[in-house]
Amino acid sequence: MDNQTKKKASFTGTIGFVLAAAGSAVGLGNIWRFPYLAAQNGGGLFILIYILLALTCGFVLLITDIAIGRKTGKSALEAFGAASSKFKFLGALSTIVPTLILAYYAVIGGWILKYMVDYFTGQGAQTATDGYFGAFLASPVSPIVYTLIFLAATALIVYKGVEKGIEKFSKIIMPGLILLIIGIAVFSVTRSYTDPVTGVTRTGFEGMYQYFVPNFDGMTVSHFFKIVMDAMCQLFYSLSVAMGIMITYGSYVKKETSLTKSVIQIEAFDSGVAILAGLMIIPAAFVFTGSVDAGAGPGLIFVALPKIFEAMGVVGHIAGAVFFVMVVFAALTSCISLMETVVAGCMTLFKKSRKQVSWIAFVAFAAMGVVVCFGYNLITFRMPLPPSFAVDATTGTILDILDFFCNYIMLPIISLGTCIMIGWVKKPQWIISEIEEGGKHFKAKAMYSIIIRYVAPVIVIIMLFKATGKF
Ligand code: PFF
Repeated sequence: MDNQTKKKASFTGTIGFVLAAAGSAVGLGNIWRFPYLAAQNGGGLFILIYILLALTCGFVLLITDIAIGRKTGKSALEAFGAASSKFKFLGALSTIVPTLILAYYAVIGGWILKYMVDYFTGQGAQTATDGYFGAFLASPVSPIVYTLIFLAATALIVYKGVEKGIEKFSKIIMPGLILLIIGIAVFSVTRSYTDPVTGVTRTGFEGMYQYFVPNFDGMTVSHFFKIVMDAMCQLFYSLSVAMGIMITYGSYVKKETSLTKSVIQIEAFDSGVAILAGLMIIPAAFVFTGSVDAGAGPGLIFVALPKIFEAMGVVGHIAGAVFFVMVVFAALTSCISLMETVVAGCMTLFKKSRKQVSWIAFVAFAAMGVVVCFGYNLITFRMPLPPSFAVDATTGTILDILDFFCNYIMLPIISLGTCIMIGWVKKPQWIISEIEEGGKHFKAKAMYSIIIRYVAPVIVIIMLFKATGKF
């Protein structure tokens, strides 16, 4: 056994932990999902609801995961069993789900890497041509090569360990990511374009106004309810809660660290990047397409944005290159957290060293990634999915199925199990005492107990119903 397994791995301090956890939270969800959800759901209204939910339910679920990890000192696989033997199964689920997410998240990481390389090698214009993305996916080799490179980078950082790999990498990447995203947002907001046919000039400021100002046009109670549910699903996914990840990272946090302050900082990072991502995309989309709704799903990053960069001319090629570097960083730190959760679980399960497990994980995820890539060419299998989750309104590829199963079925189930375990079996005080460790004061105790016992379980049950597509 190497030193890593003998000595308990830990982050060196609060900053390292906050940046690593923010690295997990800030990912593709912030960059492509949040902006289009906001554009479709009343702009500023969605943002407002999202922030309110982040400060209440998001705060409670995130601090619960981190506190379970720190209190038990164990990775997700063992932490639930250590807390309560009846809930041991949640440990297994919290390790299987990140495994499945990583299998497809790394493939999307590979696609982004491909676009980044295209922009750096002067092929940016090609990415804007019709059918480019489809042709790339249909190729049986290229997506696999990029996925493997992306996975190798992820595995290398996990192999290096918590302090020398994850923490060190996050400390460099996260501040860089913030600078890049602010730079692109300022660039986007200051664009303007005069339509040669109509002579109308559109400015980025007008796009920003449409993004931020709440839109109540035609609002009904059921539409409002849909916005709240969309914001909730997005929040859980974006914060990486109920996936075992924050439990595993929590097990590396020192007792001196204030959990409340750290959670607020992680949430500020996560929501801040999501809002800035909208500022990057929506004003530019408005200026160059005339609509704030640049499209949804993978089509936004891989189809709509390259066209927007192309419309900007030469400067758009530079903006595109910077944008894809930034997205590669964001996706990489999220992938690292997924792989770390699986590796940490397997290290204890198979009594192997970090280095051995990291190697095996790379090979295993490479094999899964290949199958996911083949889902766009050699494997023609499609599964029916509820209309709002299906890419072509009825069915999904292997990637869509994994995404649907993990985020809309398993995430609510694991959250519900966690709420029942903490709210009703162990009781909220079990977590509160961990938050107050070392004489720290936890002001929001009453709110915490109410949310973990009543509010969050009701919401996740509604989320499960939503996954049936009938809601
Ligand atoms: N939170 C990440 C994002 O917003 O893209 C994605 C993610 C990472 C989700 C890790 C779940 C997870 F376990």
